[in-house]
Amino acid sequence: MERKPYPSDVSDEGIIEPYEKSELIQDMRDQYQRIGRVVLRLFGKGTKMKTHDYQTFASEYASFGIDGTQYLAFRDVPKLIRKHVSGTHSLDYGCGAGRSTRLLKSLGLDTVGVDISNDMLQQAKLKDTNGLYRSIKSGELPFDNESFDLVFSSFVFLEMSSLAEIEKVLKEFRRVLKPNGICIFITSSEPGYKGDWVSLSFDFPENKRELRTGDTVKLLIRGTNIILYDYYWTHKDFVEVFGRSGLHMQELHQPIGLETDQIKWKDEAHSPPMSLYVLKKAASA
Ligand SMILES: C[S@@+](CC[C@H](N)C(=O)[O-])C[C@H]1O[C@@H](n2cnc3c(N)ncnc32)[C@H](O)[C@@H]1O
Repeated sequence: MERKPYPSDVSDEGIIEPYEKSELIQDMRDQYQRIGRVVLRLFGKGTKMKTHDYQTFASEYASFGIDGTQYLAFRDVPKLIRKHVSGTHSLDYGCGAGRSTRLLKSLGLDTVGVDISNDMLQQAKLKDTNGLYRSIKSGELPFDNESFDLVFSSFVFLEMSSLAEIEKVLKEFRRVLKPNGICIFITSSEPGYKGDWVSLSFDFPENKRELRTGDTVKLLIRGTNIILYDYYWTHKDFVEVFGRSGLHMQELHQPIGLETDQIKWKDEAHSPPMSLYVLKKAASA
């Protein structure tokens, strides 16, 4: 917006339409308010921060296997699938560099991976040249109603900045699930943000506070320089969103590290870093 000349804007010809004092004060107030709104948008309350920089880290992510603490996330997935899923059509929502998609395929599931990050999808295609991977917008699936026996999603909801977004995505899962279809998703558990884990560290001064719904939590992937920020959602948050999305919780599985895993567990030995939710379509929705 073009500002009027201040009284000090004196040209050789004199002052051009100077401000009245009150007008000047009002204009300065407007300017400060505008600057304030921009600062607030960039740094303050309501800011949706970029939690994961996949443009920079996609190839490093692609090198991650299913080991360390992450091994625990996936260890019991085959058992859960055998127990709950009939049929082989599966969708991996937020497939990233395809680690989870390749796991599902290795279990005999006919799987398509979708993601909002083209950098991650590029890595997935490099590792699985015949695989099916598609770019999507969040919560918008290019599939017909009732297409899948399983919708799987690992470590994606902790990147969503609002419960409304999670609800939108879960409603879309419900739409593409067959009538007896199952959704399994993996996310950090509440104790997951407090523990000392083999592959993850949350030991930052910023995290030394009582976490509340929607807070961001800083974490380091051990053995790398990758710092991430997760959104913190409680079990209660998830259960409420399931209800609004027409999904019913069949099982909550929280894996603990075992001696037979042959990994020198830290807190994993007694506390579950992740939650695996098994959902099906609610009868009445
Ligand atoms: C931590 S990675 C996990 C990738 C893979 N599922 C795995 O376990 O290795 C999270 C992925 O979710 C994707 N993602 C984040 N928000 C998403 C959303 N709203 N819809 C779809 N994908 C999303 C990111 O682009 C990223 O590739």
